[in-house]
Amino acid sequence: MPPEDGGGEVEKFVLQSDSVRVEILSLGCIITALETRDRAKQFADIVLGFDKLEGYTKKHPFFGAVVGRVANRIAKGKFTMDGKEYQLFLNNGPNSLHGGARGFDKVLWSPQVLPSGVCFYRLSPDGEEGYPGELKVWVTYTLNGSELVINYRAQTSKKTPISLTNHAYFNLAGQGSPDIYDHEISIEADSYLPVDDTKIPTGEVAAVQGTGFDLRQPVQLGKHLKQFHLDGFDHNFCLPLGQTRHLVARAHHPPSGRTMEVHTTQPGLQFYTGNNLDGSLKGKRSAVYPKHSAFCLETQNWPDAVNKAAGTQTSLVPPRSPVPTTSPQPHFPSPLLLPGEEYNHTTWLCFGTA
Ligand SMILES: *[C@@H]1O[C@H](CO)[C@@H](O)[C@H](O)[C@H]1NC(C)=O
Ligand SMILES: *[C@@H]1O[C@H](CO)[C@@H](O)[C@H](O)[C@H]1NC(C)=O
Repeated sequence: MPPEDGGGEVEKFVLQSDSVRVEILSLGCIITALETRDRAKQFADIVLGFDKLEGYTKKHPFFGAVVGRVANRIAKGKFTMDGKEYQLFLNNGPNSLHGGARGFDKVLWSPQVLPSGVCFYRLSPDGEEGYPGELKVWVTYTLNGSELVINYRAQTSKKTPISLTNHAYFNLAGQGSPDIYDHEISIEADSYLPVDDTKIPTGEVAAVQGTGFDLRQPVQLGKHLKQFHLDGFDHNFCLPLGQTRHLVARAHHPPSGRTMEVHTTQPGLQFYTGNNLDGSLKGKRSAVYPKHSAFCLETQNWPDAVNKAAGTQTSLVPPRSPVPTTSPQPHFPSPLLLPGEEYNHTTWLCFGTA
């Protein structure tokens, strides 16, 4: 690592099976390469990233990284817990995004090699990035045949919000392909969270039925965006609650046959279509990454849940007009972890062909 980023040595781990090969750094638990086979059994690297470490130590949009303590946006970077107000770093307009100035994506983790994977450990000090409590975090990647399993565990010394995810950018045609319009996407969600113009959820839990957010049947992405006049997705889809494994999303690239399924225990899925990619980064093998050249399926808690879940609303300004009785009641899952409890979520990425 560069001295200005604290120095230290970055290690790279390779997990490999007959059908999948993954490279992961101890910096930010970053997935730097993920190769899967197409119908003709040809491997291609399907995640965006950089050839050199330097790409990851400079500014980039969280390519492949684990983000935390709290993934996604927190309104005004502020929350109140037990009467105390906490102020976080504002790095996304008026809001705090993905852990702040130096989140989990920008730090070195301590790796431990496991029989079929690698576990990264980190102690996040009390007060780091404005968050209370000393937090012990373990992120474990294991490869089981064509399944990449990511488990997130954490324990805290004081009550703290937490939501961990991996922010890999996928293009099943192979990284460096110009767009994802020919991908078919489905998301098993009956509702999603409408957002304001700074991408903070309004609080409404809206039904997808009859809207462009209804992805319960596969849609061809390019055609779908046109049909619904959407500039892209950057939205949370609400998943069934209760910590069991669910199939929540599927992506299929018909020309190559590559498929990816996402299964998770998490309550939310941020579907992002690389709307802010602008072709200015120099990626792997000199690839450029224009708008809509990749998608992210980030399993996590719902955005701004720390200000919207029951019992966390003390910092909210009361609504000026009564909430219409027809709107569904918000029921944001609590992101708070208490001492003595364990945060424990798993996401499975299953690769194949069809
Ligand atoms: C590995 O994957 C197979 C299905 O391909 C599944 O039956 C098995 O339970 C998995 N093993 C672990 C340890 O997750
Ligand atoms: C995490 O939760 C899973 C169930 O989702 C369980 O099988 C596993 O044992 C838990 N891990 C730990 C370390 O408690």
